[in-house]
Amino acid sequence: MNTLVDGFGRRIRYLRLSVTDRCDFRCVYCMSEDMTFLPRAQILTLEEITALSRAFVELGVEKIRLTGGEPLVRHGIADLVESIGALPGLRDFAMTTNGSGLVRHADALRRGGLSRLNVSLDTLDPARFRSLTRTGDLGRVIDGIRAAREAGFTRIKLNAVILKGRNDDEVPALVEFARRERLDISFIEEMPLGQVTEHDRAATFCSSDDVRALIERHHALLPSTESTLGPSRYYRMADSDTRIGFISPHSHNFCSTCNRVRVTAEGRLLLCLGNEHSLDLRSVMRRHPGDGERLKAAIVDAMRLKPERHHFTTDGDVQVVRFMNMTGG
Ligand code: GTP
Ligand code: 5AD
Ligand code: SF4
Repeated sequence: MNTLVDGFGRRIRYLRLSVTDRCDFRCVYCMSEDMTFLPRAQILTLEEITALSRAFVELGVEKIRLTGGEPLVRHGIADLVESIGALPGLRDFAMTTNGSGLVRHADALRRGGLSRLNVSLDTLDPARFRSLTRTGDLGRVIDGIRAAREAGFTRIKLNAVILKGRNDDEVPALVEFARRERLDISFIEEMPLGQVTEHDRAATFCSSDDVRALIERHHALLPSTESTLGPSRYYRMADSDTRIGFISPHSHNFCSTCNRVRVTAEGRLLLCLGNEHSLDLRSVMRRHPGDGERLKAAIVDAMRLKPERHHFTTDGDVQVVRFMNMTGG
């Protein structure tokens, strides 16, 4: 019983673990303006998150990515990183962050054993950054990225969600920024999670093929077989180490090779980002504290609930009522 395989024969090796639904930003594609967040008692404790991580690693998970909301707003995040970083068998330990807390936390994350960071960055224009994130400060995020590199993170990846009419004109500039700062970059197609206000998803959808065409006006892209076990398809430019990834849930469905599951901040095991199939692992842990074998048995049994694929469309209809910050992507 030391591997996880779903009903379609897909081996699960990657756990995305959301440590909080809270965030200091309010990105227009991720949240509505007036979000309510989970009460603290419903959130897993740091000990519960570590116990869960241990169970998954013992079941053959090789990669854990901490997500949110924004993981760096969770109190005790550095201690959590240290506990998970010490688990034998974990090969890739990463975090996806909005970057605003990196100046403060980068050193401790690196010391705690985190190996990779993905930082969300959709625009290089301070006013646009403010309007897309509603509360964010671009300068602080850029300082955070540089602080992370100084702390010893060598593979930092930018994530840019591209929206037609809002930031698609910045694709070449984002690529140049990544080249200059020696970062990788992934371009993401927006997904219909949660009923966002003020932002019209159908009108702003921009496919990865359109984004690629914008880049290819300036650079030839060479397909790469590299993989991070994530959904990105990578390309390289001839004269740079920067990897350019495309995450294309709409235009190039990648569900047949899915290798991941998620756990929400309240301990719900979500078998697919685009469906509601789930299992309440917090109840299992709180009913049987310290019983790692029972926890592992519940996780193994839940694999049969993993659906074959998502059914996202780009017409603006919400297919999943849960917002992205509840899931961490
Ligand atoms: P790497 O480990 O660097 O490959 O990162 P990653 O792409 O696995 O993780 P990241 O948190 O940077 O996610 C980037 C985007 O991919 C986010 O918008 C996620 O929502 C999306 N994503 C990650 N996994 C899945 C998935 O299984 N299905 C879908 N539809 N989107 C996903
Ligand atoms: N569709 C696609 N990506 C999204 N993200 C947040 N909301 C969405 C959405 N609706 C991205 C963030 C972050 C990553 C975890 O997911 O920008 O980089
Ligand atoms: Fe926060 Fe990330 Fe959602 Fe933006 S996309 S509001 S940074 S959780």
